[in-house]
Amino acid sequence: MPDALLGAWRKAIAPEALRATSLADDAWLEHAAVVLVVAADYEAANAHFFDQQPDGRRGERYVHIEAGAVLQNMHLATLAEGLGGVIVAGFDARRLADLLALPAPLQPVALFCVGARAEASAGR
Ligand SMILES: Cc1cc2nc3c(=O)[nH]c(=O)nc-3n(C[C@H](O)[C@H](O)[C@H](O)COP(=O)(O)O)c2cc1C
Repeated sequence: MPDALLGAWRKAIAPEALRATSLADDAWLEHAAVVLVVAADYEAANAHFFDQQPDGRRGERYVHIEAGAVLQNMHLATLAEGLGGVIVAGFDARRLADLLALPAPLQPVALFCVGARAEASAGR
């Protein structure tokens, strides 16, 4: 992927507003200490890998493969620190992009909630 596709921002968002973007009223979004957003420029990815698939959409596949690797790495690092983590992808993408004021054409791919481990899963 071109370097221009990589970047990081930090933003303070009202936790209840973040939870309101959930399609399943996921409480993690309101109670997590930190919520990391994995976002992607699908247009740039598709343009970069346009020749690899007749419909020109191979880039989307790569975005999802990379996002999965990123999320797994974040999850492993979180567990190694003795914390808990939950991947959330069930959100209203447009509403979340508006709330985060993501610069177009970035779109949210997944959220990763980090916080203290719940008692029930503390041993895992
Ligand atoms: C791609 C992906 C998307 C997910 N989206 C959600 C979600 O929107 N809401 C949710 O509660 N769990 C979601 N999960 C499941 C949680 O991340 C987690 O795996 C589940 O809560 C079980 O966690 P535990 O094994 O630590 O109890 C998703 C998992 C994956 C892999």
